[in-house]
Amino acid sequence: MSTQLPEKKEPKVTTQTVVDMKGRGEKISMLTAYDFTMAKLVDLAGIDIILVGDSASNVMAGHETTLPITLEHMIYHTSCVVRGVDRALVVADLPFMSYQVTTKDALVSAGRMMKEAGAHAVKMEGGKPIADTIKRIVDAGIPVMGHLGLMPQSIYKYGTYKVRATDDQEADELLSDAKLLEEAGCFGIVLEKIPSKLAKKVTASIDIPTIGIGAGSACDGQVLVLHDMLGLNKDFHPRFLRRYHDLHTEIVGAVGNYVKDVKTADFPNKNEQYK
Ligand code: KIV
Repeated sequence: MSTQLPEKKEPKVTTQTVVDMKGRGEKISMLTAYDFTMAKLVDLAGIDIILVGDSASNVMAGHETTLPITLEHMIYHTSCVVRGVDRALVVADLPFMSYQVTTKDALVSAGRMMKEAGAHAVKMEGGKPIADTIKRIVDAGIPVMGHLGLMPQSIYKYGTYKVRATDDQEADELLSDAKLLEEAGCFGIVLEKIPSKLAKKVTASIDIPTIGIGAGSACDGQVLVLHDMLGLNKDFHPRFLRRYHDLHTEIVGAVGNYVKDVKTADFPNKNEQYK
């Protein structure tokens, strides 16, 4: 009989884990993923939170905005991600119009995301107008992450993707929304594209973690879209994006080599076929 102990597995990240991380000043890492293979890689690399963002609408489906993606699509993407993850907390975006009409709709959408997709939490865009709905969802046992600042589901209201809350009125509103979301029971809030000074103030004003994207270094954590940080997309270069690879060049190069090898009958060679 083997005397070897089973390898000790890293504990899974929970919503409480990330709140505790803020408490001890440990930064939280978050990235998007939309499929099994990428989720598995991102989890293996030690990410704390995987966001199945409705940016899947742009990145996976090629839409111009996040508005067209449906709850069914998001459930599909989330279930693929959940199957690839061992340690990270999986947060799934509730898509446009799956939670804004009535609280009952919102509860059903959040419930389906947990039950059918296996998400660990949901994310919703908005402050005061959806605070009561968030409270109801949290009361039903479903963890909610908020999202303030630039909210891509409201792009037709803003008319632009520029930095939000640069004036005092919108900044005050955002700060008060963040406190409302904390009171409603959110375990964290994404702050998208706001001045770093405001993000710092919000972060210091609440006990739940803030996760920034284009919101500066004072946030408790950072999130990026995986395909952007891996350099799969050549056309998107906002100031906040740090590229960790140039996969666009790598992939186009590798596929180009394959095409050349097939055309020249170099592939398959003797060792790449059966006798
Ligand atoms: O959908 C998404 O990817 C997001 C991040 C940009 C935070 O909401």
